Amino acid sequence: MNRYALSRRVVHWAIAVCVIVLVPVGLWMVARGQANLWDQLTNTLYGIHKATGFSVLLLMALRIAFKLRSADPAWPADFPRARRIAAKSLHHTFYLLLVLVPLLGWAGVTAFPALIVLPGFDLPPMPFVPVDEALALRLFQIHGALAVLLAALVLGHVGAALHHLLIARDGLFQRIWFGRAGHSGH
Ligand code: HEM
Repeated sequence: MNRYALSRRVVHWAIAVCVIVLVPVGLWMVARGQANLWDQLTNTLYGIHKATGFSVLLLMALRIAFKLRSADPAWPADFPRARRIAAKSLHHTFYLLLVLVPLLGWAGVTAFPALIVLPGFDLPPMPFVPVDEALALRLFQIHGALAVLLAALVLGHVGAALHHLLIARDGLFQRIWFGRAGHSGH
């Protein structure tokens, strides 16, 4: 069957849902913090963000293991080389950002320190990261900037996916979806 292994499809969509939650929650909680609204809602948003973001890190470990274990489906024979290269570069950039962005967030909350997710439940501190508030602020800055870059690239990725699904109708979308197998070969 010319599509991604089921394990890879499941982890792709699990991470997609996490990122769709993380970006608006991240922007919202930071806006509330900047407005000095340190109430229950802001704390809950930070808790959700940290727990979901840390889950992305764990899911990415699985994702990389699954990728190493199973080959990518073959491209349709007539798929232009330039677009193949563009798609592959974007996908590899996602792997990089989806590891770097949560690592920077985790390093930031370790340095601040602000590891609490729920009362009585803290994330583990990242090894070798000192408690240093100035360092934490630096890490959060880079975390935020790369997260915004990630969100912009996600928009391009979604646009390409919708193009394949609705306009080109070439079966590429079905390679990462569930249900009956798509036919991406011509
Ligand atoms: C793929 C995973 C993640 C994405 C896409 C993401 C996205 C974002 C975004 C969009 C912001 C707002 C940035 C801004 O407006 O400056 C943000 C802020 C933040 N994120 Fe994440 N995040 C992720 C993972 C994590 C993780 C794992 C942690 C910690 C365990 C974390 C902790 C934080 C904190 C503390 C802030 C606020 C920083 C500040 O106050 O300036 N994030 N994140």
